[in-house]
This record gives sequence, C-alpha cells and structure tokens, in this order.
Amino acid sequence: MMTDSSSSIGDHIPVMGGEVMDALRLSGSDCVVDATYGRGGHSREIMSRLSEQGRLIVIDRDVAAISAAQEEWGDDERVDIVHGPFSELSGILGARGLIGKVTALLFDFGVSSPQLDNGERGFSFMHDGPLDMRMDQSRGVSAADWIKRIEEEELVRVLKKYGEERFAKRIARGIKTALLQREITTTAVLAAIVSEAIPTKEPGKHPATRTFQAIRIAVNDELGEIELVLPQALEAVSPGGRIVMISFHSLEDRLVKRYFNEQSKGDPFPPDMPITNDMLKPKLKLISKRIKAGKQELDRNRRSRSAVMRVAEKEA
Ligand SMILES: C[S@@+](CC[C@H](N)C(=O)[O-])C[C@H]1O[C@@H](n2cnc3c(N)ncnc32)[C@H](O)[C@@H]1O
Repeated sequence: MMTDSSSSIGDHIPVMGGEVMDALRLSGSDCVVDATYGRGGHSREIMSRLSEQGRLIVIDRDVAAISAAQEEWGDDERVDIVHGPFSELSGILGARGLIGKVTALLFDFGVSSPQLDNGERGFSFMHDGPLDMRMDQSRGVSAADWIKRIEEEELVRVLKKYGEERFAKRIARGIKTALLQREITTTAVLAAIVSEAIPTKEPGKHPATRTFQAIRIAVNDELGEIELVLPQALEAVSPGGRIVMISFHSLEDRLVKRYFNEQSKGDPFPPDMPITNDMLKPKLKLISKRIKAGKQELDRNRRSRSAVMRVAEKEA
C-alpha cells in the first residue's frame, strides 16, 4: 500500500477538452455554468473564450475545489463561485435570475484526481487514510459510518449494481464479519478485508477497485444527483442552449442517454392517436451520439478511457 506522499495532489487533466469546447459552442457574451468545477480545467478553457460581457457560474460540492476556484477566479467579476450539490441547480440559478438564460451547461461527473490522490479524503485503496469518501465533507455520512449502518443484503446489492462485483456476497459478508470485531475506519483496512474475501484476482486490477467505486457512488448518491439535475438542466438553458454531460460509469451514461432521448422525442401520446410533429413538441435536439476520447488523449490520460460525452440542444 502506497502512502500519501504524492506531490501531484491538485492536478486534474480535463477530459475531452477540445470536444467539450466544440460542443459548448461558446460566444463571448455567453452565460455558462460549469456544474463540476474540480480543478477548473474546463472552466479555464471556457473563460479564455468569454469576453467582458460573458458570465460563468461554477459549482462544486467539494470545499477544496471551491477554494481552488476562489483562488483562481475570486477577483474576476464575471465568475460566480457556488459551493453545493448540482442537484440544487434551479435554486442556484433562480437566486440569480438565470433560469432559462444559460447558454451552455457542462457536467463532468465523478471524482477528480485530487480527490483520489489525497489519502486524507479516503477515496482510494492506493493511499491509506480515514475511510471517508464524501465529496462534501461538510454533510452526509462517511463511508466508515455507511458500511456500519447498511444491512448486509443492501451492501451486496450496492456492490453488484454500482461495482459490477461478482464476489459481492463474499465481500459483504467479509465486511460485516470484520465489523463484529472492530470498526473499519481506514482505507487500508477495508482494502485488506476485500482482498481477503476475493478468491481469484483480476490481472492488472486491485481487488478492491470495484468495491471502492461502488461505496463511493452510494455514499455520494451520485446517480440520484444526476436524476435530480436532468430536468433542472433542461429548465436552466435558453432556447438553442447546449447541455454537455460526461459520464464515467455505464449507469450514469444510461440516465443521461434515456433523458436526452425521451426529451428529444417529445410528449408521449397514446399509440392509436393520430399525431403530427407539431403536437409532439420535443424539448431537446440530440447533437451527437455518444462521443469518446480520441487515441491521442487515451494514450495521455488513463481516466479518459471510460469517459462518454453526450450533447443536446434546447429546442427553440
Ligand atoms: C471529474 S471532476 C471535474 C473536473 C473538471 N472538469 C476539471 O477540468 O478540473 C468532478 C467534480 O465534480 C464534483 N461533483 C461531483 N458530483 C457533484 C455534485 N453532485 N454536485 C456538485 N459537484 C459534484 C466533484 O467534487 C469533482 O470536483
């Protein structure tokens, strides 16, 4: 197990930078929201395209991300920095009179490299630290408390669904048995329990990879956040405005794909009712099918391998 001596905490290579900028199709005076600031890789690109009349609202539920945003953009009047979950998008924009006025809206889901690289955040089996995993440490329940509270059956379900872990039952049993003797408060201890519970190892993959991913998704209710924000995103943008979403998990992408498809088909009518296109009133236009990172980026940035981008435009 590596200790956290990394000097690269703070770096995050933005995925599909060029493709994201093409998809956002910015002009200087746009009103843009970057709902997942991270370390601002995408925001920096956005700002380089905005004029003095442009506006950028950045959101992140991680205090460290918000401090980074404040340090970089705190003095720039065009930038508004908000700490909170993006599921509060309508409230955030409503308070600023911006519902229906956003011209480009970006979501780059999942965790940032600084979150993974900092052992103190408890996201990674590669760095020992307190078993926390919360993106927002000011609210919610840490992973250590979450595994204590959850029933074994529910833990199995989470490991299977979010981690696609075939040894979910053995791992859940291992965790619950260990908890009878002592608390599990560090990432190293959890990683060791998971490794011990798994009979066969996947080559090139740490045995705890799937378990850590699944618990992280559950602790942060990552899929629930996406479900909540999808209709708010539609409401937020102006006619012709773009919504760009980058997923790293098939379940995230499924939610985005389904919502974009539904909204591009328009209102549902009974199958036997004669209807015209006019009556359907689709709310979104699909701008592309799923977009994946190009070969050059894949060689340079491992994270980009699982990234899937979808783009939709609000109908006029
Ligand atoms: C993949 S990183 C974004 C990286 C960013 N695009 C960049 O270039 O630096 C995801 C960020 O979104 C934040 N995040 C994830 N889910 C969130 C949510 N529901 N509400 C607000 N922020 C969230 C995380 O804290 C993390 O900082």
